Amino acid sequence: MTRKLLLDTDPGCDDAAAIAFALGCDAVDTVGVTTVAGNSTVENTTENAIAVLEALDRPDVPVAKGCDRPLVKELTLAEHVHGDGGLYGELTQSGTAVDAHAVDFIIDQARRHGDDLTIAAVGPLTNVAVAIAREPALPNLVDDIYVMGGAAFEAGNATPVAEFNIYNDPEAASRVTQAAEPKIVGLDATNDATLPYDTVRELHDRNPRLEHVAKWCEYAPEIPATAERRDRPSLHDPAVVAAVVDDVVAFERHYTQIDTSGGLCEGQVVCDEPEVTGNPPNADIAVDIDASGFRDRLLDAYSNL
Ligand code: BDR
Ligand code: CA
Repeated sequence: MTRKLLLDTDPGCDDAAAIAFALGCDAVDTVGVTTVAGNSTVENTTENAIAVLEALDRPDVPVAKGCDRPLVKELTLAEHVHGDGGLYGELTQSGTAVDAHAVDFIIDQARRHGDDLTIAAVGPLTNVAVAIAREPALPNLVDDIYVMGGAAFEAGNATPVAEFNIYNDPEAASRVTQAAEPKIVGLDATNDATLPYDTVRELHDRNPRLEHVAKWCEYAPEIPATAERRDRPSLHDPAVVAAVVDDVVAFERHYTQIDTSGGLCEGQVVCDEPEVTGNPPNADIAVDIDASGFRDRLLDAYSNL
């Protein structure tokens, strides 16, 4: 059965790679792309999302522009990772965003498609948190809400304990975690969602249409280079699409809170794995990924583009 997917994004090279993945998947019908400030400003992430869809010959997929800053904190960008303007490569767009705010678009799609709809949020969670504040039934209307974020049992990539998306808007992440029982796919799984640079180059050599996709997949990894990872960037956001379409990500259910205390642990995804709080589990936490299964599904989807 084809699953309807709404991608909430901040493109972002790996966001663009995730959009391309979803568009190449037969199992998924992408009903829209919403944008949020994160890797770059929301003006840039919106232009990037439109440009990505046009580059992939899918200008029919609607893009809705969303929140321009986190709920409480100042915005932190990651252009040093994704390139000036948030996306490597020379892309321009001719289309425009739809005439609806991303928050309204998300609520509208949830009401329209109900539990046929999966939401995959691969940027800071501002849009999703505001959508839930506006429509508290949202988590019950839709099938699942997947989140790229956090580092439950690994080191962070924004701080020693926090991953970029959650660190960027911890209050929003906290709200979504409390209200939506999300499936949280963090660095524990996504660090290993890799595509070696050689494979990326082969991808492009075999099919020049994939020039842009190859560029997005080759983006500078924000993880400090280690011997193991020097030749393979982690494709964090595509890992979430893989989790939506197939069984390649392993989850454990835990009671989970997001640290919003403003100190060194801000943005940490704290899982009660030892079950000391006595609170019932409220989130599925990704703990592992079948890296070769991920790669196969990604390349398969790209070959359909
Ligand atoms: C996440 O942060 C962003 O820079 C990426 O697009 C991804 O969503 C990884 O920590
Ligand atoms: Ca992202």
